[in-house]
Amino acid sequence: MASLRVHDKEFDPFLTEEEIRTRVSFIADQLNTDYAGKRPLFIAILNGSFIFASDLFKELHIEAEICFIKLASYKGSRSTGHVVTAIGLDHEIYGRDVVIIEDIVDTGKTLTEFLPQLHHQQPASLRIVALLHKAEATVHPVQVDYIGFTIPDKFVVGYGLDYNGLGRNIPEIYKLVE
Ligand code: IMP
Repeated sequence: MASLRVHDKEFDPFLTEEEIRTRVSFIADQLNTDYAGKRPLFIAILNGSFIFASDLFKELHIEAEICFIKLASYKGSRSTGHVVTAIGLDHEIYGRDVVIIEDIVDTGKTLTEFLPQLHHQQPASLRIVALLHKAEATVHPVQVDYIGFTIPDKFVVGYGLDYNGLGRNIPEIYKLVE
């Protein structure tokens, strides 16, 4: 794998297709075991998770549902502060075994703001699967139950992840040359 350019920046190879595939299968196996006999609802967070979610979902052999949502954040009133709303969440969460699919947990801000809204709807259980976890970058601790790769605090692209809109279609994952 050679390095590549996205917009104005240079990226070096980081994770190969094979490494990603192996890890996705491993996580799918865990989910197949942990959710056997249940009917979990997977909620994939767009845009970044679409490739991971699709590869992971294909490897689930249990009964499972999936929906895709977008998180929109805006500044609320002074009392509500920063607000995150889920667009497209058309499933009933109450009493369901819910699994959030994220591409990458970086500072943890996104999930920290969103998770209380889901808890509020009283799911039977709520777990998180993330392909990548920048553990060193955590500002808002989030419990990620299934992690593909723990990676250093470096900007990455490919396999659904973008740099200013580009790079999502790269089958491997590349990291920024600094
Ligand atoms: P957090 O709220 O800081 O945890 O950020 C999570 C979101 O930021 C992810 O879902 C990604 O969309 C985006 N993000 C964070 N780090 C990267 C990266 O290295 N490459 C591309 N997107 C990233």
